[in-house]
Amino acid sequence: MILPLRTFFRTLGWATFGYPAGMSAESGIQVVFIESDGTTHRVMAVPGQTLMQAALSAGVPGISGICGGDMCCATCIVRPAQDWAARLSHAVEDEQIVIQGMPTCHPDDRLGCQIRLDGMLDGLVVTLP
Ligand code: FES
Repeated sequence: MILPLRTFFRTLGWATFGYPAGMSAESGIQVVFIESDGTTHRVMAVPGQTLMQAALSAGVPGISGICGGDMCCATCIVRPAQDWAARLSHAVEDEQIVIQGMPTCHPDDRLGCQIRLDGMLDGLVVTLP
């Protein structure tokens, strides 16, 4: 698959081209992705990455982020663990519309491309459809 240049840079980010001064993988944010069969992926994300970018950088299956974060593909959909769902910012109307169009829609579902990671989200747990 060939990605548009913009999508390539937006999805691979620091992990591919090196961290900015003062930032390292050790200063990252741990995110846990759980597949439907229970397979768990612990990923170190860079502050400022989206959840979708973190998943792509780590090769988490089930997240492809085809639209590069433009909220039009829903290939980045995740379901935050119940104790995390309330801690995330609310989905904007456009995000809600995309999610509600999915056949397995759940009220807690989010687009991973719309969740920007920061230190407050260290330890975030999400399941994958
Ligand atoms: S990457 Fe397309 S909707 Fe999130």
